[in-house]
Amino acid sequence: MITRKELIKKYIDFFIEKGHKAIPSAPLVPENDPTVLFTTAGMHPLVPYLLGEKHPLGKRIVDAQKCIRTPDIEDVGDNRHLTFFEMLGNWSLGDYFKSESIEWSFEFLTEKKWLGLDPKRIYVTVFMGDKNSPLDEESINSWKKQFKKAGINAKICDYNKKISKDTNLRIFPLPAKDNWWGPAGKTGPCGPCTEIFYDVSPNKGGLQGTFDEEINKFRIIEIWNNVFMEFNKNKEENFEKMKRQNVDTGMGVERTIAILNNKENVFETDSFEKIIKKVEKLSNKKYENYQKEMRIIADHIKASVFIIADGVTPSNTERGYVLRRLIRRAIIYGKRLDLQDFTVKIAKTVFEIYDDYEELEKNKEEIFKKIQDEEDKFNLTLEKGLKQFNKMTEGKKELSGKDTFLLFQSYGFPLEMTIEMAKEKNIKINEEDFKKEFSTHQKLSQTASAGTFKSGLADNSKATTALHTAAHLLLSAIRMELKDDSIIQRGSNITPERLRLDFNFNRKLTEEEIQKIEDRVNAAIQKSCEVIREEMSPEEARKQGALGSFGHKYGSCVSVYTVSGFSKEICTGPHVKNTCELGKFKILKEESSSAGIRRIKAILK
Ligand code: ALA
Repeated sequence: MITRKELIKKYIDFFIEKGHKAIPSAPLVPENDPTVLFTTAGMHPLVPYLLGEKHPLGKRIVDAQKCIRTPDIEDVGDNRHLTFFEMLGNWSLGDYFKSESIEWSFEFLTEKKWLGLDPKRIYVTVFMGDKNSPLDEESINSWKKQFKKAGINAKICDYNKKISKDTNLRIFPLPAKDNWWGPAGKTGPCGPCTEIFYDVSPNKGGLQGTFDEEINKFRIIEIWNNVFMEFNKNKEENFEKMKRQNVDTGMGVERTIAILNNKENVFETDSFEKIIKKVEKLSNKKYENYQKEMRIIADHIKASVFIIADGVTPSNTERGYVLRRLIRRAIIYGKRLDLQDFTVKIAKTVFEIYDDYEELEKNKEEIFKKIQDEEDKFNLTLEKGLKQFNKMTEGKKELSGKDTFLLFQSYGFPLEMTIEMAKEKNIKINEEDFKKEFSTHQKLSQTASAGTFKSGLADNSKATTALHTAAHLLLSAIRMELKDDSIIQRGSNITPERLRLDFNFNRKLTEEEIQKIEDRVNAAIQKSCEVIREEMSPEEARKQGALGSFGHKYGSCVSVYTVSGFSKEICTGPHVKNTCELGKFKILKEESSSAGIRRIKAILK
């Protein structure tokens, strides 16, 4: 049995041998990236570097990043979809490219010293080409070279054709929807990718369906994606070749340990076993009879623990809504197992598995309290809500927007959960109708619009960069004006239009204080101060008085941005070169964000 910790260690060690530097996992709540609610891939915290910022640790980076992905939430329960997972990644920031990346993937997967997987069970996809970019021949040739090492004369296979008995059919060119990554916004770096799949049940004989069919049968499972960021999509929507090309890869820890242990699914690994056993014990029911329910409970409670550890509270908007939906969905499925008052008991087992994440232990009490509070709150209306739902759907073919809204408003049923429950009873939802209903009540959470979930590259426009520098000036101005050194940043979100900064402070600011803070920022802008970037160890940065972000763990070397005489922060950047580039700073709003946390929204004019 190979454990998650062993796999992570092997991966990091392997890439360190190949000249990479390891960095710790970043928080699940991304900073300064308005395109996503959560860190959905290892590349997220690295976006500034993928866009050209210099990384203090060099051009080769490796890590294991905790991730949350919610578009697949309704697929959780099958053998491989998860909302929380760990992603292993290696990056080339303008250094090596396709051939090395593919060679090292093959070496890590197949060499006895590393994972020792069977090359005969590996299948790969490549980009098939379209009007914007040609067939990825370089990747094809690199793969052929690698397979040859294992005595396989790898050949290309059309993904639409049934895979014949020819065991050399290994390389599948696929269209952009499968094998092209980014940009999520309108412009930015993007490129073809190559995905690596593994045959989980070779004892069932050779592959026979089309590529898609074999995936849908869960016969082959994707374990690793190598993205080659070769192009920049410009404003005219043309794909231009970038001067500096990057590699971004992602290997799923849970899927990989599943196949390494000859399991066909991710729930029978040490990332899950203790949690599932606990659900079995508490419910006095067997996993084999209630797989879907137990998998959902285990995944959702685990995800909730990690999300709360990074500072989120259940609510009806944005991240808080995702968290609420996860906890409540777990409770609904718990009900099917006759579980009551169970969420914290399950949450405790998550700590046993992930004792390598300090943020869990540090926030233990808060995590248990928030989960318990949410369960208590939902329990108040759950029974009645379920009765109401049954009444609304009895003998019906369609559920109206009004009813869906009532379940949300009066009984706390997240709307996606209601839709899912209706679907199970083969009842349609009148989508137009409920969208209308929700928007008139202005309750349709931003999270419900799929766009917010898409992972991708942040908008790195000039406006965002300037606001980012303004956020540093603002934090310093707040600390100076309120004469409180314990104030730190407790979250930040920047769009091209405005900045939002959260910080710890126990009362509302006065009008006068707000004005003075604004004046201080404008004074720093008028002084035309240079913004200087330096590299140093986190210890040295602290010694020099640099501020860091809440919840961050740092690598052995960090970037520190200084506005002389005004601000010093550990930060990935990017920033403007001189504060004179900022224009006029204006605070729009000061309000409470949650208990003990204030929020300021501001713009540059
Ligand atoms: N960013 C790529 C992914 O998440 C590696 O699949």
